[in-house]
Amino acid sequence: MRIARQVFYTFFALALGLIVLSAPATAQHGQDVKPAAGGNPSGTNPTAMSVKEEQLLRELNKLQGRISIPDGKAALLEQPQGREYRGFREGVLPWIAGVAILGMLLALAAFYFTKGRIMLEPGEESGRKILRFNAVERFTHWLTATCFIVLAITGVNYIFGKRLLMPLIGPDAFAAWSQWAKYAHNFLAWPFMLGVLIMLVVWVKDNLPDRYDWDWLKSAGGFFSNTHPDSARFNAGQKLIFWSVVLGGMALSATGIVMLFPFSFADLNGMQWAQYIHAVIGVILIAIMIAHIYIGSIGMEGAYDAMGSGEVDLAWARRHHRAWVEEQQAKTASGPQATARPAPAE
Ligand code: HEM
Repeated sequence: MRIARQVFYTFFALALGLIVLSAPATAQHGQDVKPAAGGNPSGTNPTAMSVKEEQLLRELNKLQGRISIPDGKAALLEQPQGREYRGFREGVLPWIAGVAILGMLLALAAFYFTKGRIMLEPGEESGRKILRFNAVERFTHWLTATCFIVLAITGVNYIFGKRLLMPLIGPDAFAAWSQWAKYAHNFLAWPFMLGVLIMLVVWVKDNLPDRYDWDWLKSAGGFFSNTHPDSARFNAGQKLIFWSVVLGGMALSATGIVMLFPFSFADLNGMQWAQYIHAVIGVILIAIMIAHIYIGSIGMEGAYDAMGSGEVDLAWARRHHRAWVEEQQAKTASGPQATARPAPAE
């Protein structure tokens, strides 16, 4: 009987010991199973984790780990520049683009409605034509211009498409359009670059500074005073357009190539800088080209002919580029460039 009682106590003590020892584990397990606040069954607390992430980011400046795949960049999970870039892309850039493009459109509309078109005097047309741009020049111009216009529209889609176009046409149509827009942007970049290079070669000598430029700039091209400052083949305003296209085009090309071949020429930091520079120069060039398109079409009577047929009325050429006309006519005594044509009214 005594032995039986001793065996019973021993078992009881062992059982009690086991229960006491296993209690923390059970409690821990129970905690795992119980849904955490916020209903996360895995028991993790995302808020607490992200606070730690924030702390890490603040202290180390980046969240980086170890990986075994060959692409070493994947080890970097988060860095403050990424947020700065996102802030620029989603906040600052649309403002710069909106102010530059809308500002230019408003300024041109104000000029058009207050001053009107720049016209020749009634009856001033001579009916004689002079060749202003040959076929190679016109081809280069229109190659660059058509590519630029498509690049501009598809580029603006990157900035405003999701905000302005998607609510109008719906996500499916917007996705399809944006995909084609992206292809167009990537592929037309090449003929645009070619066009800019040929433009540089063909027109650089006519776009170097000369003695007429300062007077032209001082009188702002006569746009507000209705005077006609003299100029050679290109006036100072056109030279500014030319150099904007060449230098802006080259900067867009260089940064564009960096983006077309991601991480081939730049690291993450360099890729972000390429995008900052590309986007800002892109929208500024768009604003400048809107002014150019205005003055080359409705803004100035007779200007479009120069890039359309290539020939302009001699009176138009004398009024806007007197020194150039004299130079052309001095090349041959009779001025072979000036061809007699019946005036439209005749
Ligand atoms: C529909 C659009 C366009 C029209 C109607 C247009 C019209 C013209 C005209 C008429 C000229 C000759 C001006 C003169 O006789 O002195 C010209 C020149 C020129 N165009 Fe355009 N253009 C357009 C788009 C573009 C674009 C998109 C670019 C470049 C991205 C461009 C770059 C140039 C350059 C560099 C010149 C020579 C400098 C100057 O005259 O300003 N054009 N354009």
